[in-house]
This record gives sequence, structure tokens and C-alpha cells, in this order.
Amino acid sequence: MEAHQAESAFAAASYIPPDRIFELTKLYNEDQCPDKVNLGQGTYRDENGNPWVLPAVCAAKDALGSTGHEYLPIRGLQTFCDSAAKLVLHDTKALEENRVATCQALSGTGALLLAGLTIKKAQTGIDTIYIPTPTWTNHETIFQSVGFRVKEIPYYRDRAFNFGAYLSALQAANSHSAVILHACAHNPTGCDPSQDQWRQIAAVIKQNGIFPIFDAAYLGFNSGSVDEDAWAIRHLIEDLALEAAICVSFAKNMGLYGERVGLTAFVTKTPDVSRTISSILERGQRSTVSNPPAYGARIAATVLGDSRIKTQWSQDLLTMSSRIKNMRRRLHDDLVRLETPGDWSHIIQQSGMFAYTGVSSQCVNWLREKYHIYMPSTSRISIAGLTERTVTYVANAINDVVRMEIKHKST
Ligand code: LMR
Repeated sequence: MEAHQAESAFAAASYIPPDRIFELTKLYNEDQCPDKVNLGQGTYRDENGNPWVLPAVCAAKDALGSTGHEYLPIRGLQTFCDSAAKLVLHDTKALEENRVATCQALSGTGALLLAGLTIKKAQTGIDTIYIPTPTWTNHETIFQSVGFRVKEIPYYRDRAFNFGAYLSALQAANSHSAVILHACAHNPTGCDPSQDQWRQIAAVIKQNGIFPIFDAAYLGFNSGSVDEDAWAIRHLIEDLALEAAICVSFAKNMGLYGERVGLTAFVTKTPDVSRTISSILERGQRSTVSNPPAYGARIAATVLGDSRIKTQWSQDLLTMSSRIKNMRRRLHDDLVRLETPGDWSHIIQQSGMFAYTGVSSQCVNWLREKYHIYMPSTSRISIAGLTERTVTYVANAINDVVRMEIKHKST
């Protein structure tokens, strides 16, 4: 007689709601309205609202030609790892003294995951990861999945970085903890510490022996200059000689979103430690994805390794960062011109891909229902989703829903 299970093996499983950001893109794609605007997912769009393949990336692809499909080594393409580490850490003692362990990773998410796996396996005693509130939603998911306790520390208040509360929370942390630091272009708030605030944050990290993990997803994309955007990383590892994990993504700054190009780099105290950490990175990679995809890494290595193409990339970074700055200014000016109730100066004070508009979730719903404008309920908008054609439409829509809400409240 055939044996039947009494109930499904999955009877105790709970449904997990879809990822908020990817779900928003799906809803936007399904929307048939010609006026629709996607301000949800953080993907760069050109002045016509189209995805942009960077001229530097086109040049790299031309230079690469046909590449074949063999496996890469477990830790990835060496030329990519070397040039990516050099991009961030050039002229540092850590690099000169061979104290940097690197591993190619699946973009920012993969880089953070590998960092987490490595910290676990290296028996560091670190059991807690501090993340800012708010932060990129994947931070909590990634580090919980690796088995860390994830604790939130306040980051944002009254449309600005809440430096005092952030620093106090960090002061209570100890050497059994690591902290996720957004190297620049804080996602989702667009509020970064000043250099002076970074110095104070770094001093607490050093004093308390907290392990720093940089999420560096926007180097060069924020200001147009990689060095400027990597200032905090370089301050911690060069000026304060700290160990750190640096998780770099080339999704935004090279527009290589779907190619999943990233790097996990550990800056360590000695070349010996670096060798050990390399071996642990390699094991972490082998046990999760075996070896990383080749094509995107080849593109990035060519961009970084060919001086002519690298110069073009510098230009591309300026094109993207200045278009975003311009759109911030345009949105702000339109809201001011319309006398939209409230203070909108935070839109131009924040920087990077995102702005936290601060409109209520009710307004976010109205924007979607009435105007087909998409953003998460937090009211974070991807500024890169705005164009000359849509920015006034969006400003008018925000103006309308903000006024509608005031009217509703007063009746
Ligand atoms: C975002 O924050 O919108 C992007 O980084 C895309 C993502 O993976 O969430």
C-alpha cells in the first residue's frame, strides 16, 4: 500500500510577502497609463527616462569582443579584484603592505553576504550587527540569514541625519559587534554624515573595537568623484589604521545592475591574516555560488584597467551625478514655486540617488492611484527616475496630494 503523508511537509511554513521595491517595479510595469512615473527602484535613467548603458561600458564591451564561457576562479577575476581594490584603496598602506583580502561577489548583496559569512567563520566573536534606522531593507535580511543578531540604531529625524542619537547608540556598542556604514549616498534617506561627524563616528568605532562593514554601492555616483565618495572608508583604514570589510557594488556607478558585479574586500592587520581571510572568503564563495559570473567582471576590469576607458567612465559619473543634482534642484524649485505647504529644502540638502520626501503614506497611495507615480510607502524617491518631461508633473502631483491631505484633516 502506498504511504501518504498526513499533511504537507510545508504545513508550518509561512508566506513571505514580496520584496517591496521589486514589487513596486512589477506594479509599475503592469500600469498602462502613458503618464506613469517610476520613482521606486534605484536605477539610473537618462534624460528621456530610459536605462543608460554607459559609454565607458560600451567601449569596454567593444574592447572585450568575444570572451568565451569558462569558469572563473572561485574568488573571481583577479584583474577585476585588483583594480577594484585599487580604485578604493589606492595609495594606502594596507594595499602597499599586502593586507587586503579580496573576493569578487554578486554585486552589493553578494558582497555583504560574503562579508557576513566570513566574519562568522573567522571566529571573531562578533554576534551583533548594528544597522541604521532606516536603512536599505536588505541589510537586515542578509545578516539575519547568516545568523547574526541585528540591532537598529537611530539615524534620521526631522528630515536630517540624527547625529547625536546615532553616536550615543554607537557608544553603547562593544567589540562583539559590527556596524553597517553607508560609505556615501545613504539609502534611503540621502543624508550622509559630514567629514567632521565621520571623524567622531570613526573615533567611537576605534575606541569600542566595533568592526566596520562599509556598504559602498554608490562610489563616484554620489559626487562624481570616487575618492570623494570613499573618504570615510579611507579615513578609517588609512588615518585610523582600522580593520574593515568593504562591500563594493558596480551596479549603479557602472550601470551593471543585472550583471551582478561586486567586491568584498577585508582590510586586515597583517599579510598573514589577509591570507587566512582570503581562504575563508574562498570557502564562503564555493559553498554559496561556487564561482562568480564572468562577463560583468570583465567589463568592469576593462573600464578600470584601460586609461582611455577609465577617463570616459569619470565623465559618465559626472553625467549621472550632475543630472541627479539638477533634478533635485528642479523638483525643489517647482514645489517652492507652487507654494506647496511645508519646507522642501531637504530635497536639495540630501544627496545621492534617493530623496526622502517626507510625504505621508496616504499621499504615496494617492500619488499612485491618481497620478500613476510609484514610490515605496516610506516616500523615498529615486531622483534618477525624474526627467525634464516628468519633474513638473511630479511636483504638481505632490502639491495636489499634500493639499488634499490638509483639506481632509481639517474636515
Ligand atoms: C534600491 O534600493 O532601490 C536598489 O538598491 C535596488 C534594490 O536592490 O533594492
